Amino acid sequence: MPTLIVANWKMHPTLAKEAKKLLLGTVASVSGVKGVQVAVCPPALFLPELAKELRGRKAIELGAQDVSTASGGAHTGELSLPMLLPYKVKWVILGHSERRERGETNDDVRAKVRVALAGGVHAIVCVGERERSDDGTYYTFVRDEVAAALADVKRADLARITLAYEPVWAIGKSADHALQAGDLFEMSLFLRKLLVERFGRPAAASVPILYGGSVKPENAAALIRDGGVQGLLIGSASLDPRGFGEIVRAAGATV
Ligand code: PGA
Repeated sequence: MPTLIVANWKMHPTLAKEAKKLLLGTVASVSGVKGVQVAVCPPALFLPELAKELRGRKAIELGAQDVSTASGGAHTGELSLPMLLPYKVKWVILGHSERRERGETNDDVRAKVRVALAGGVHAIVCVGERERSDDGTYYTFVRDEVAAALADVKRADLARITLAYEPVWAIGKSADHALQAGDLFEMSLFLRKLLVERFGRPAAASVPILYGGSVKPENAAALIRDGGVQGLLIGSASLDPRGFGEIVRAAGATV
């Protein structure tokens, strides 16, 4: 499987013309890299414009940062999957900690995973503890998040499931606050074990596990090489096309 690098632009940039510039800069800086699938998840407002820009280009796919559990109706402020699909949305980030902080529950994430799978898009399911203590209770916390999010997932759906491990305490900081590759290796083994227990070995092996949380050009290669993950979810570093290109090239070099 190609290494997967997902850009989560969060609530950036402000204007459509800036989004277009950022996308074109990203296209240029990742061009020619082999063995890596890049997905860019901009604010949904910019998807129509960006889908137009990407027409005929395969290097980058588009994703959304969330989706409603409803397909339409009286849901103020929500966006349904049928609204997103015309704009070439192939991926959707679900259960990001910044949404969970606003009240999204494990049950919501479970329902959103169902919606994504029924609509034929890849679900990037985010899990991760808020803090770490020495007694290792964060493993239980992460296990419960995974179990809830994947509760309705069948083995045949796994081709469209990606797990993203994002410890909340490591998000939005500098590279030296990211999880160390050795600690990531332990967690990625744990996540793989959960998948094997639930779905069996061959099927579980097909699910990419990503790491997110202060990934920068300087730590990307080590996290992939020594962390046991198949890709990365990049927040703030995805807003700089040059740095993001370095991350994608680093990922390509580890293939
Ligand atoms: P960060 O964000 O790369 O800015 O830490 C990652 C994320 O929240 O997905």
